[in-house]
This record gives sequence, C-alpha cells and structure tokens, in this order.
Amino acid sequence: MVPLQVLFKLLPFYLISSVSALPQSSTSCSHTTSSFESTSSPLPTSTSSPPSTNTSFPATIFDDSTDAFINEVLADWKSPGGIAVAFVRQNELGEWTNVEAKGYGVATANGTKVTKDTTFNIGSNSKLFNVLAASFLIGNETLSPRINWDTKIQSIIPEFNLTDPIAARESTLLDLMTHRTGYPLHDFAYRYSDDIPNVIAKLQHQRQSASFRDIWQYNNNMYTTLSYLPSLLSNTTYARYVKENIFDPLNMTATTFSYQLANSHGQRADGMGRQGRDVYADPFGGTPRAVQYWTATTGGEDGSVLAGAGGVITSAVDMATWLQTLLLDGRHPTTNENVIPPDVLRKITSAISVQTTRPEFPEVSLIAYGAAQLQITYRGHLIIEHGGFIRGFNSQISRLPYDGLGVAVLTNDNEHGKVQTEIIKNHILDKALGLDPIDWSGRWKALRSVPPARATPRPSNATAPSVDFPQLAGMYNNDGYGPIELCLVSPTNADSSASGSCEALASNISTILPGGIRQGIPTLVGAVDSPWYSHIRVEHFDADLFNVSLLISTPTDDPKEPFWTYNDKSQSDNLQTAELNVEGSHIGLGLAGFWAGLWDGAEAGVPKPKGDTVRERAEVYFDKITA
Ligand SMILES: *[C@@H]1O[C@H](CO)[C@@H](O)[C@H](O)[C@H]1NC(C)=O
Ligand SMILES: *[C@@H]1O[C@H](CO)[C@@H](O)[C@H](O)[C@H]1NC(C)=O
Ligand SMILES: *[C@@H]1O[C@H](CO)[C@@H](O)[C@H](O)[C@H]1NC(C)=O
Ligand SMILES: *[C@@H]1O[C@H](CO)[C@@H](O)[C@H](O)[C@H]1NC(C)=O
Ligand SMILES: *[C@@H]1O[C@H](CO)[C@@H](O)[C@H](O)[C@H]1NC(C)=O
Ligand SMILES: *[C@@H]1O[C@H](CO)[C@@H](O)[C@H](O)[C@H]1NC(C)=O
Ligand SMILES: *[C@@H]1O[C@H](CO)[C@@H](O)[C@H](O)[C@H]1NC(C)=O
Ligand SMILES: *[C@@H]1O[C@H](CO)[C@@H](O)[C@H](O)[C@H]1NC(C)=O
Ligand SMILES: *[C@@H]1O[C@H](CO)[C@@H](O)[C@H](O)[C@H]1NC(C)=O
Repeated sequence: MVPLQVLFKLLPFYLISSVSALPQSSTSCSHTTSSFESTSSPLPTSTSSPPSTNTSFPATIFDDSTDAFINEVLADWKSPGGIAVAFVRQNELGEWTNVEAKGYGVATANGTKVTKDTTFNIGSNSKLFNVLAASFLIGNETLSPRINWDTKIQSIIPEFNLTDPIAARESTLLDLMTHRTGYPLHDFAYRYSDDIPNVIAKLQHQRQSASFRDIWQYNNNMYTTLSYLPSLLSNTTYARYVKENIFDPLNMTATTFSYQLANSHGQRADGMGRQGRDVYADPFGGTPRAVQYWTATTGGEDGSVLAGAGGVITSAVDMATWLQTLLLDGRHPTTNENVIPPDVLRKITSAISVQTTRPEFPEVSLIAYGAAQLQITYRGHLIIEHGGFIRGFNSQISRLPYDGLGVAVLTNDNEHGKVQTEIIKNHILDKALGLDPIDWSGRWKALRSVPPARATPRPSNATAPSVDFPQLAGMYNNDGYGPIELCLVSPTNADSSASGSCEALASNISTILPGGIRQGIPTLVGAVDSPWYSHIRVEHFDADLFNVSLLISTPTDDPKEPFWTYNDKSQSDNLQTAELNVEGSHIGLGLAGFWAGLWDGAEAGVPKPKGDTVRERAEVYFDKITA
C-alpha cells in the first residue's frame, strides 16, 4: 500500500511472456458515448493536442513492438512475475478508439501465464475507492447530520484520538485522505488480529513526527479509520458498500476485496519474490518464489481490516473500465449512468498537499497530492494517478485528462515491480503521445544497480549490554503497536526460564526462519501477526545498541522445507536499530529507523527524533512488561 519509490528496490529472474489480446480491444471504436461534451467534466479535456504531441497515433498500443518491449523489461529485470496492462483512449469526439488489455510473463509459482483476466492486488490504488465511499456518504441527503469533506473525524468517530490534541480535535475527512495529520507511516502497528476499532484505538499512542497540516506523510492507519464510515453511517461493511456502489454498477466482475473469491475464480496471480537475493552480488537475482499473500485472512466479501488501505484485487480488463469511468467524470462507459457523483473527482484530484520536495527526473514535475490521487506532469502532459504496493504486488493507474487517455500497469514482481510499472507506463505514454522514447529501463537499472551502503560489522570485542541476554527475553508492549514477545534464540536460553511459546520458537527457529539467524550473534526473535512481516529479529551490535530486521517466514508446499525466509536486506541493514534502556528494574527498547525511511523522511524530509534519552530518541518505545 506504500507508494514509496524509496523503499522498494528491484530484482530477479528470466521470464517467458504470454500475451493475450482482449477480444474487444481493437482499433475500431468499441463504445461511443455522448458524454464527452458534458460541461461537468472534472477537468477540461483539451481539444487541441499539446504542441509536443505527434497526432498520428499508432492504432494499437499493445502491438508487436510493445510486446517485445515489455518482454524485454521482464527479462532485463529478471522478473519472477509478470505484467498486465490496460490502455484506453478517446478521440476528440469522445469515442473510444482504444480499449485494450493484455498480459505478459508469469502469474503463479507453477508457471501459469498472465492474461488480461489475471487478478492482482493493487495495494494503495484501493484507497481511491475508500475516498469515493466517503464521497457517497457526503452526498447522502438522508444522513442526519449531513457530513462533508471538512467534517471533523471526532464528530463521526468519537473514539478517534491522537497524541496531539490539536490534530485529534481538528482532523477532517480531507486531512486523513491527504496524509497531513502529522503522523508517519506506523505500518507495523496494525495486526491481522485487529478490527477497525482496534486500529483506531491504537492511534492515540503513536508518536507524531510533524505538526498537524505541516507536511505530507503517508499513513495507512488513517485510511483504515476512514473505512469505518460506511459501517457507522450506512450499516454496511466498507467492502460491501464499495461493491454495491462501484464494482457492481460498473460490472467490474473480476474486482473484489475477497481473497477467497479471487482464488475461486482461478485467475489470481501469486505475488512473486526473489528468494536469497543478495543486493551486493546481484540486485536483480534470487530464486523466483511465491510470497505469502498479504490479505489471505480476508473475511470474504466483508474484506479484511486492511480493505480500505489496500484490499482491492482486480484485472487489467476491469482497470480499463475503471480508467474509462474516471476519464468520463464518473460515468459508466456504456450506459452513461452516473456512478461517481459530479464534482467529486474534481475535488479529490485537486492539489491539497505537496508530496515531493523536488522532481525525481527532468521530465517530471513536483507531485501534488489530493485524496488518494496525485497530479504530476510528464513531458508537459498532466497525469492524475496513484501507485500501489503491497507484498508481492505493485500497480500504477494513470490517466491524462487533457489527452483523453489512461494506462494501468499491474505487476506481481515484489522487489522491482514498482520500477517496472514506471518504465512501462512511461514507454506506453511516449508511444501513445508520439514522443521520442526515453530509455527508462536503462535509467532505472543504472540507479538500482548501485548497492546500498554495507553494514558495519559487529565489533569482535563488542561490549555486553546492561542486562544479560536471557533477561532481555520476554513480553514487550507499546500501546500503539501491541505486545511482542521476544525470545532468545541464540545463544539458546540455558536457564530454561523461557516461556512455552519461546521454547517452541527457539527449538524450531532453523525450520521457521531458515538462514534467518546469523551465527555467533546474540539474537532475539519475536513472532508478530503483522500483514507486512511475520518476525522481528533483534541482533546485538555493541553495548546497548541492537540491529533490528523484519523478516517473513513464508510457508511452502514442500514438507522437507516447510518455510522460506524473506529478508530483503536492502530494506533492513543499517536502517532499524533498537537501543536498550534500563531504569532501575524497568527494561525498555527504543526502536528507530523503524519505518525504513519514512520517519527519517526520504519523502517528507522528517528527521529522526533526537534527544538525550532513549525514550526521546525512539520512534516507538517498547516497555518490557514481564520480569
Ligand atoms: C444513506 O444514509 C442512510 C441513513 O440516513 C443509510 O441508511 C443509507 O444506507 C445511506 N446510503 C448510502 C448509499 O450511503
Ligand atoms: C487522547 O489521547 C491523549 C494522548 O494519549 C490522552 O492523554 C487523552 O487522555 C486521550 N483522550 C481521551 C478522551 O481518551
Ligand atoms: C448494523 O446494525 C446492527 C444493529 O445495530 C449491528 O449489530 C451491526 O453490527 C451493524 N452492521 C454493520 C456492518 O455495521
Ligand atoms: C458484465 O461483464 C461480464 C463479463 O465480465 C459479461 O459477461 C456481462 O455481459 C456484463 N454485463 C453487462 C450488463 O454488461
Ligand atoms: C497453478 O496455480 C494456480 C494458483 O495456485 C492454480 O489455480 C492452478 O490450477 C495451477 N495450475 C497448475 C497447472 O498446476
Ligand atoms: C509520429 O508518430 C508515429 C508513430 O509513432 C511515427 O511513425 C511518426 O514518424 C511520427 N511523426 C513525426 C513527425 O514525428
Ligand atoms: C547495526 O547498527 C550499527 C549502528 O547503527 C550499524 O553501524 C551497523 O551497520 C548495523 N548492522 C547491520 C547489519 O545492519
Ligand atoms: C575494540 O577494538 C577496537 C579496534 O579493533 C578498538 O578501537 C576499541 O577501542 C575496542 N573496544 C573495546 C571496548 O575494547
Ligand atoms: C516446534 O517445536 C515443537 C516442539 O518444541 C513441535 O511440537 C512443533 O511441531 C514445532 N513446530 C514447527 C512448525 O516445526
């Protein structure tokens, strides 16, 4: 669900692509609509081409040369997965000249091919549906009192509370939607075992990193909070509300919040990762391996607690329909029925907060964030889009309102999918707009070939921490995150004071986290039912300083190797630390760098907390609650 270019680097394996043409995709216009001339279009569609545009467009975008290009990207980036793409375009009369969808590469661990109907989780591209659900409630005239974009969250959800009393009192629907509450990611806070009220109850214990409405900081917890509204105001779960009000009216039959339903259709892609990738040896390498599905614990059509932040599963065919609908100001592409209320798209695509402090490349602009939609220009063309990442999947869903076209790129490449969506989107735009192609794949490969800084080895004469390792093991708690039991797995607990669960974890550690424990380093491990990570590993560095990594123990079908360990070193080394704090009989751990670049601001420019004490320096402070 994170749109963070900064977090997700690249990688692996060869691929053979399959291409499947969308039957109705053709050069002739498949649907004609008269709505294009409507005066209520959220953004005026230019009738004259921008000066840089070559108007002799290729009739079909996913032609042999695009096929060759996408297959080459998959091979160059050694992708373990594949790509599904959708492209739609209107001519100046508002007729659809292109409605295309196609698949390339590998969908599942057993080698099935991606097609136009393969379903992917679209991560944070799910958030637009959350904003639209709120917009329907805003438009609901029978609600009493009525709500609007500036309604205070506390007036609808009295339990909503934050450490900052101003942000708690003043936060509106729009503040949550546009990521300007002052709170950073805190993605490790929510658990599969939480329901929405639990996620909301934890907020008041999470540390703020900037002032209210000061800067843009991505926060999924706030979108989970927003997804509570349908259940409070319409007595429907969020997931059903969206299905009834958007998926069904648009006949997006492949689109669902239900993992089980997507699975039963037999079209679901596996998220594909690169086992054993060594970013220093080959940032693209590793063995293709299915990663554990992020929302497999979904409650069927009621979705999971994560539905509002990142729960949508969909296909390229349905994303073509969705792009058409968005380009038509919310109207159904064939019936012309109004599915999204007028003016809503104009509101949520306006510039509300600034996402970036400077453009990443000369061809792009700054990013202005609205509500789950951002504005950026590419070579002078306005794009409205959003990215999406959840484990195993990346997506980019973009439309160019002044050019009357839209592109969706969905991937199941865990490590490098984010970059591939950018490369392929830009390639398609260059082609569709008649611009000289830029070698985006080459540019990105050069950037991603630079390995991260090496970790400093643990000193051979490392000093012992202030308390013995066995005494460090036990139950820790932060009210904003929930409890974590840390177990000493190396050296194993000789005095057998460990709990039953810790004994089981320690005795099975090489099975549960194969290769996950480094020899000779005193290490504690805690199992966490986080959607992002299954285990937290705390390794001693020196004195009271520890290194923290977040690992994923992924079940396999192989009884000889029942789990494999996902440990993307590019996201762990040198990033997270824990400082031990001992005050009398109190033991605590202050975690920092915990959001892998979010708090310390790769995007938002927020410094790590500073201070003289461990508590002040901690982004998240865990108290040891057992003796
Ligand atoms: C509109 O609000 C009423 C409550 O006044 C609720 O029963 C109904 O489900 C809501 N409909 C939608 C589409 O939000
Ligand atoms: C809201 O959270 C703050 C900070 O944790 C706390 O001091 C305050 O008591 C909470 N308010 C309510 C009504 O629970
Ligand atoms: C609908 O209302 C009933 C009665 O108040 C309640 O028990 C149920 O949980 C509500 N359902 C949802 C999805 O909010
Ligand atoms: C809805 O889509 C399905 C295929 O996904 C198609 O068979 C059906 O005819 C469509 N229904 C309408 C009303 O367009
Ligand atoms: C491959 O895996 C998918 C998803 O797990 C499954 O639906 C399909 O039947 C499998 N196909 C083969 C040939 O094993
Ligand atoms: C316009 O684009 C088409 C298709 O990409 C290309 O064949 C043609 O050479 C371009 N014309 C000019 C004047 O750039
Ligand atoms: C452990 O933390 C220390 C101190 O921050 C750092 O220098 C070192 O590189 C880290 N090691 C790893 C493996 O991340
Ligand atoms: C550990 O060894 C390094 C050199 O390898 C030395 O600089 C440092 O002072 C030693 N630390 C202790 C606590 O002995
Ligand atoms: C872990 O170890 C216990 C015995 O300590 C055993 O009963 C259990 O099956 C093991 N679990 C796994 C996943 O290997």
